[in-house]
Amino acid sequence: MILISIFVCFCLAAAVNYFRTRRQRKFIKNLKGPFSFPLLGSLHKILLLTPQNFFKNSAAYLAKYGNLTRCWAFHRLFIFVADLEFAAHLLHSESHVQTGAELMSDWFNESSLMCAAEQWPQRHAQLIEIFRPERVLQQRKLWQQQQSLLQAKFLEQAASREAFDVQPLVSSHVLDIVLLSNCGMQPSEQYKQSFLDLTKLYRKRFLSIKSANRLTFRLTSPFVHRRQQRLIKRLNKDNRLMIDELRQQLDLMSSGIVIERFELAKKLEHGSLLQLLLTGAEQQLSEAQLLAELNACNYLAYMLISTTLCFALVQIARHPGVQQRCLEELRAQSEEQQLSELPYLDAVLKETLRLQPAQLWLARQLTEDYDYTHSQLGAGSLPLGAEIYMNLFALQRSSDDYGALPTKFEPTRFLAAHPVELLSFGLGPRRCPAQDYSLLLLKTLLAPLLRQFELLPNGEPLRLDLHLTLGSKNGFQLALKQREAIN
Ligand code: HEM
Repeated sequence: MILISIFVCFCLAAAVNYFRTRRQRKFIKNLKGPFSFPLLGSLHKILLLTPQNFFKNSAAYLAKYGNLTRCWAFHRLFIFVADLEFAAHLLHSESHVQTGAELMSDWFNESSLMCAAEQWPQRHAQLIEIFRPERVLQQRKLWQQQQSLLQAKFLEQAASREAFDVQPLVSSHVLDIVLLSNCGMQPSEQYKQSFLDLTKLYRKRFLSIKSANRLTFRLTSPFVHRRQQRLIKRLNKDNRLMIDELRQQLDLMSSGIVIERFELAKKLEHGSLLQLLLTGAEQQLSEAQLLAELNACNYLAYMLISTTLCFALVQIARHPGVQQRCLEELRAQSEEQQLSELPYLDAVLKETLRLQPAQLWLARQLTEDYDYTHSQLGAGSLPLGAEIYMNLFALQRSSDDYGALPTKFEPTRFLAAHPVELLSFGLGPRRCPAQDYSLLLLKTLLAPLLRQFELLPNGEPLRLDLHLTLGSKNGFQLALKQREAIN
């Protein structure tokens, strides 16, 4: 009796789901994809994905179904894309800018990354203004001071010449730099610990079907959910204190109180992100928006900058010719020249990001139907509600768009008269507002290391995995040798 009731309920739910998705199915008849079971769709494909098997499974999936495919899970329609022409066309579209990522919404809900579509253009424009090159340059002195601490740690490692995992060193220094740059002051050790704990918690949630959306996460992992909310609350309590302190300092400055000025000037000379968020907006941000923006920028900057720097160090260590050319470029540069005038190092970073895009997916949720034309796939439409995931790892390794040896580490691709396309910061209206800022920060951290140390290709090769950002299961191993000083 129970079995019959379950069967009847299943059939009813499947029928409702069939009618609910009828319109969407009409649009995607031309797309291939895995077999769809009634109601469940191709849930099995998604359930079987883990951070470790992601690359193998996704390569097999693409080989079987192609670079533009459909995959159902219940009523949700996923479109997986690994095609440059299609991705570039969609990303440049002004009317399809909704990102739809839900995983991080408790932490970043009102940030520009996740705010409501009507607010987004103004919020994004504010960030573009904040990361303008002149503003970014103000931060360089601070970055250089902090870089010298990382340099000193490298020197200790160079003494042994043994292979080591560079990630813990890089991550902890990047975290300090990012928090100092964004908050304008060094938060407490407890703040840093909560930030790291929360980041770790989200990394574990990624690719786990239990925590795919907020409801299933709450129901299936109530204790982890409670811990997550506690950590967010703790961070925001300290964020509020920092905002209050900064507001008081800015008030004192505007009322011209002389005693405080010296201290204040020292603290504010690099124009922190928080200060610019408080003073730069035409329309004042609410407290919730301010907290979410600060949290999102801290998280993105920490995760993406530290990951990219680790990959760049390993790539340079494993390509001696590239390392030599970087060194020659650095030695030819005079003290007064800006780091922005290092085209080869710039190309090395871009090539690192092409082959190892720290943020592997770009996502769009269609809020209206989307018509496309494609030189090989022809014309087609995707329906409102479809969730589109662009796999940058596969896309930026395609021989159709990146030449005969697409997986070769070859920075000169970005120095050619017609450089290849880099999607790792996104493209079009929604692309990362901090692209130039990130490249300058990475060069500020990397250039002195390359001047002082030879990076040696010792240690195990990378074993890629995916925990929110791209990473390596066995860390980022290399060895260091101090260079002879040249006059
Ligand atoms: C190597 C470093 C970085 C990479 C690869 C990167 C990549 C990206 C990507 C792919 C997006 C989404 C674009 C899209 O959906 O089309 C994005 C958005 C964003 N990034 Fe970055 N990013 C980096 C560094 C940073 C840093 C340092 C910050 C802030 C300090 C930052 C702040 C943001 C913000 C706020 C957004 C959302 C903008 C919006 O949707 O309005 N990013 N980034």
